[in-house]
Amino acid sequence: MTPYGASIAGTGSCVPERRLTNADLEKLVDTTDEWIVQRTGIRERRIAAPGESSSTLAIVAAQRALESAKVKAADIDMIIVATVTPDMPTPSNACLLQHALGCRRGIAAMDLNAACSGFVYALVTGSAFIKTGTARTVLVVGAETLSRITDYTDRSTCILFGDGAGAAILTRSADTGIGVQHFELGSDGSGAMLLHVPAGGSRAPATADTVGGKMHTLRMSGREVFKFAVAQMSESIQRAMNACNLTPDQIKLVIPHQSNARIIDSATAKIGLTSDRTFINIDKYGNTSAASVAIALDEAIRAGRCGRGDWIVIIGIGGGLTWATATVKL
Ligand code: UT7
Repeated sequence: MTPYGASIAGTGSCVPERRLTNADLEKLVDTTDEWIVQRTGIRERRIAAPGESSSTLAIVAAQRALESAKVKAADIDMIIVATVTPDMPTPSNACLLQHALGCRRGIAAMDLNAACSGFVYALVTGSAFIKTGTARTVLVVGAETLSRITDYTDRSTCILFGDGAGAAILTRSADTGIGVQHFELGSDGSGAMLLHVPAGGSRAPATADTVGGKMHTLRMSGREVFKFAVAQMSESIQRAMNACNLTPDQIKLVIPHQSNARIIDSATAKIGLTSDRTFINIDKYGNTSAASVAIALDEAIRAGRCGRGDWIVIIGIGGGLTWATATVKL
């Protein structure tokens, strides 16, 4: 039994203004709007402007989350930013946020890389610090500018990815029955190369050749990742429901990583979840990796699809390979 609950007190999100539509992509690669919509459910994605980065989107998302939680930046005592596209390898985006938001000097701040599972990993980690009494108020963020690591000559990947950020403020509650009630964080590094960026790290530092070969962009074995994601998503949601003795009709909303509408549809159908209990916004933003569940959570709450007292399941799946599922009482 933990001494505290960690309540999701507020959420926020921010996406760039610029839209990249399927019609725009038809001009860049050999694809069609029909193929993209049928195979993925995506109609458009947002693309960061030259002056924008993962941290600038994260700052606005965090400010909106603070506003909705009615919490001041000075009250935050920990920041966790999930991202695979930090502004720079170092410093962390979390440190950039600590300064930009006007948080107190000395608070804990770190980035976390669990690819598309990142926001759920971060939310579970932040909750653990609150539940054990170590922190009172934690800012968790998922922020990406995947357009900066996307190869717009590769039709198998460039149709998928977009930019954006989402944030949540976690606060201490005397009610242990609120917040994350069960979680599963997982990994399988044997599938590491199914979704990776070949160069730009310590294994293959940037050279003229790596840049020329576009080795700083995402490579994905789509079919393999697809199969893994469908199986993992349905099994994880089922385990999450079992652990909290919940039937599908007791779940107000499942908020899954927005990687492909077909993955979400087949995984949720397998366990008897109707479409009104599943949140999908992939049509507007594509796959925004760590930002995906964070943006979806914010939109779902603001649209009244879920609220205080409801059971929700949030689930991220992706590169690593990784997966993360949390059963949350809002
Ligand atoms: O967020 C991290 C996790 N990521 C995911 O979960 C993504 C998982 N994977 C996917 O969503 C899907 O695998 C894709 C959307 C990437 C691809 O869809 P698919 O139905 O698995 O297509 P496929 O790779 O099996 O390719 C089928 C055909 C191929 O042509 P042939 O070989 O059958 O002649 C591809 O070359 O579709 C072709 N194709 C395209 N055609 C038109 C691939 N991309 C495109 C395209 N437009 N953009």
